[in-house]
Amino acid sequence: MSARKILVTSALPYANGSIHLGHLLEYIQTDIWVRFQKSRGHECHYVCADDAHGTAIMLRAELEGVTAEQLIQRVSDEHQADFAKFGVAFDNYHSTHSSENRAHSERIYLALRDAGHIATRDIEQMFDPVKGLFLADRFIKGTCPKCKTEDQYGDNCEACGAAYTPAELINPVSAISGATPEMRTSKHYFFKLPNFEDFLKEWTKSGRVQSQISNKLQEWFEAGLAEWDISRDAPYFGFEIPDAPGKYFYVWLDAPIGYLASFQNLCEREGLDFDSYWNADSDAEVHHFIGKDIVYFHALFWPAILEGAGMRTPSSVNCHGFVTVNGAKMSKSRGTFIKADTYAQFLNPEYLRYYFAAKLTAGVDDLDLNLDDFTARVNSDLVGKVVNIASRCAGFVKKFGDGKLSAECAEPALVNRFIAAGEGIAADFEAREFARAMRKVMELADEANTYIADKAPWAMAKEDGREQEVLEVCSVGINLFRQLMVYLAPVIPTLTDKAREFLNVDSLDWASREVVLIGHAINKFTPLLTRVEPALIDKMLEASREVLVEEQKIKDGSAKAEATAAAQSALEADPIADEIDFDTFMKTDLRVAKIVKAEHVEKAAKLLKLTLDIGGETRTVFSGIKSAYAPEALEGRMTVMVANLAPRKMRFGMSEGMVLAAGDDEGIYLLEPHTGAKPGQRVT
Ligand code: MSP
Ligand code: ZN
Repeated sequence: MSARKILVTSALPYANGSIHLGHLLEYIQTDIWVRFQKSRGHECHYVCADDAHGTAIMLRAELEGVTAEQLIQRVSDEHQADFAKFGVAFDNYHSTHSSENRAHSERIYLALRDAGHIATRDIEQMFDPVKGLFLADRFIKGTCPKCKTEDQYGDNCEACGAAYTPAELINPVSAISGATPEMRTSKHYFFKLPNFEDFLKEWTKSGRVQSQISNKLQEWFEAGLAEWDISRDAPYFGFEIPDAPGKYFYVWLDAPIGYLASFQNLCEREGLDFDSYWNADSDAEVHHFIGKDIVYFHALFWPAILEGAGMRTPSSVNCHGFVTVNGAKMSKSRGTFIKADTYAQFLNPEYLRYYFAAKLTAGVDDLDLNLDDFTARVNSDLVGKVVNIASRCAGFVKKFGDGKLSAECAEPALVNRFIAAGEGIAADFEAREFARAMRKVMELADEANTYIADKAPWAMAKEDGREQEVLEVCSVGINLFRQLMVYLAPVIPTLTDKAREFLNVDSLDWASREVVLIGHAINKFTPLLTRVEPALIDKMLEASREVLVEEQKIKDGSAKAEATAAAQSALEADPIADEIDFDTFMKTDLRVAKIVKAEHVEKAAKLLKLTLDIGGETRTVFSGIKSAYAPEALEGRMTVMVANLAPRKMRFGMSEGMVLAAGDDEGIYLLEPHTGAKPGQRVT
């Protein structure tokens, strides 16, 4: 097998927020894959960077009273410290606000322009005369032109679902300064994505993206590719466009170029040949790992940009789903919006690495971190099965072999089977089927434990003259344990490194497993991992809630209690009638409903589309519960709906009723009947 040249990236985290468990799924998935490639002896480089540009970062720095440069430096330090805690071992961590990135962005832009892939035209946009900047739709608020609900965003109304342009809002205000915005014209630069339609249709079908993604892309092709606006007006924290003073590259133009910049920076430090990885005829591999929310950028814009600039395109874009916690979207009020740093204060990061690995497939499905399952799984697999093998055997090797394994292997067939299993496990790692790999490893661990339990060395040890036999059995156990350490090293590197010291071997690389340890001295066994303490999980959730309360206070203080005021006005706007008579109440037809389907609604920030079964009849309801629930978590659940509410036409379709939920700005909780209730049953 000859060594492959492999460059791997994870998406670049935004420089205005902390790393949380959702992010970590991606960085851990990528890191496992990279560690596996290195273990196999390939030349593999893993690069990342902070995504440092854009309006949000500019405004955040202003809010904190620091320069953008100061903000991104501080956040970059925090991010890197967090990644280190979780064993995410980048070969280079850079920033998109770097000289390398400026050079590559300019070079690529000029190449695209010279090849005729850039267009310019005037567009009209809202402008904040106080702040002196153009406003993206989400920075404009006003009264809905249809239903007159106040405080709606610039593109659609969350109350009635109407879609409109910011210009149609009644009394629009800038969400940044509160000033009344003006309409202004400005010249923008566009990347002519439609020029690449044929190329992209080919490319996206050439096995570089997962089939689920390629299907999604076909939908986007059918909807038609549009030119992409890649410029923003000053003031903007980013790079000025070379031939356009006062115009800046939109953050998403230079963000993926940040992959090149970080790698360039690594090449200079380590004397690697950048071009041999990125030239059109490169024989190296380039693999991107991303979340499902940023597919458009990575599977359409990015390959088109590279193609247009005469460079090679990625070998693969690997997309993963989103992390939910206990079946629901991470929620600040429930304490399940858990930051990397908060987690690491209470729990061992390797638990999480193992749990993610045990659930990760090569698909794009969401991954639920169920905290009870997490505890059970880690305790039973890692502590109960894996570590147990070594702790059962180590003592006897010390006692009867003076710390040395037996001079001959008593069970060559068994040990060889464990070695041979490495090929299948390697294929699973390669294919990003980590769950399958972990299943195989745990089956081997079961086998090893069964072998030891059958031989019962602890019983033999009590009989005279069987010392040698005990030593042989335990030496086999240690060899089996060593095989498992090789297979688990990409997943739980800290634990396996401690085990490596105990085993007294130089390396746990994949090939190292082929040499059976005989007559080999091992070191003193020290506990490798403690059990997950459920009490610490509760403390972590509590601390997560506190961290966010603190943050909110800081925000409230500096942003003039904007959030509190919004919550207050929402409460005031809630009309609760004083008293109604019984008959009025009985006119409300409340029914038990089963959620048979729950889907995201494109462009709706708060809505989910629910398909409800109310006993033989199906209803479609749009419900503003997206902030609290991942759609996958709702399917199959029972709830209560108002079945005789007049249907309402919304921008996304007809809503035929409404589901009941408790809610305020602290959180949203769907009502659920007691177990046993049947769809369609009347609720009184
Ligand atoms: N800055 C962009 C990426 C630019 S890449 C050229 C960005 N940053 S992010 O901080 O919002 O997200 C970084 C990565 O974390 C993305 O791939 C995103 O999909 C992933 N995740 C963020 N939240 C997540 C979950 N809750 N679950 C799983 N992945 C998540 O997007
Ligand atoms: Zn409205």
